[in-house]
Amino acid sequence: MAADPFIGWMTDIQQRVERTLEAALPPAEAEPCALHQAMRYATLGGGKRVRPLLVCAAGEIVGAAPDNLLRIGAAIEMIHAYSLVHDDMPCMDDDVLRRGKATCHVAYGEANALLTGDALQTLAFEVLATPLPGVAPAEQLAMLATLSRAAGHAGMAGGQAIDLASVGQPLTLPELEFMHLLKTGALIRAAVLLGARAGTPLPAERLARLDHFAKRIGLAFQVVDDVLDCEADTQTLGKTAGKDADNDKPTYVSLMGLSEAKRFARELRDDAFAALADFGPAAERLGALADYIVARSF
Ligand code: IPE
Ligand code: IPE
Ligand code: MG
Ligand code: MG
Ligand code: MG
Repeated sequence: MAADPFIGWMTDIQQRVERTLEAALPPAEAEPCALHQAMRYATLGGGKRVRPLLVCAAGEIVGAAPDNLLRIGAAIEMIHAYSLVHDDMPCMDDDVLRRGKATCHVAYGEANALLTGDALQTLAFEVLATPLPGVAPAEQLAMLATLSRAAGHAGMAGGQAIDLASVGQPLTLPELEFMHLLKTGALIRAAVLLGARAGTPLPAERLARLDHFAKRIGLAFQVVDDVLDCEADTQTLGKTAGKDADNDKPTYVSLMGLSEAKRFARELRDDAFAALADFGPAAERLGALADYIVARSF
């Protein structure tokens, strides 16, 4: 059977992201060793790298330089890895398994896990603030502002705060959507937008369509995460299955039921696809990623 070109592309980007992260992270043997080792442990050797893949696929549309896209993708992946380290801590979701291994605080202690998150976040901004060849400084500043907002109170951190405040609360559908758009959607949206801004500038109307695509798949990503938490097993997920119900979290599954949540994820994917209609073959990988996000098994 011929190899699937999309899988080949994905594997290649995943490997290059790994090398980019590896080079950007501090060496394990440098002091403070425990912090550096924990940063590497939490970032390297696992994860689907969906956000860097989205950066690269969006960047293809505008002919962006691959090395710049990898750097942008690595910065967003560091923010994501930090969010997972903190998400797993006892004060948040209290999880012991992540990406098939012990969570960062289990392996390195809570104080190191807290600092690992802090240090990954600041390293992400250091990486993104280093001049990107061929990208205008004003454009790069705009990227930094976009990522800052996506990671902060109006994005991931804000969404996580709502998530924690919502334990045991019956949220309405609009409230749940708002939470998911922030806690997971914001970084995914930033990944698409940063990739799309790394090359030949797009007219505002086309950028807005990519933004719509990103919002829909960002939400779909968390809907599928909720479905998998309920339906998949711990071994496949590499994280503890059934955690949302155990922690009494409001999710798309708790609100809609399993089959309706799955249907909703497909509806979001179709709506995302529609936003790509005018982009032609240049957006094929972005479309394939939308499919992957909805069809994935972990
Ligand atoms: C898990 O993200 C947490 C969410 C934001 C839903 P991923 O499913 O992207 O986790 P990794 O990076 O592949 O481990
Ligand atoms: C986490 O959502 C979103 C983040 C910002 C990390 P979850 O708590 O559902 O993520 P998992 O299921 O632990 O990966
Ligand atoms: Mg959580
Ligand atoms: Mg969690
Ligand atoms: Mg989850």
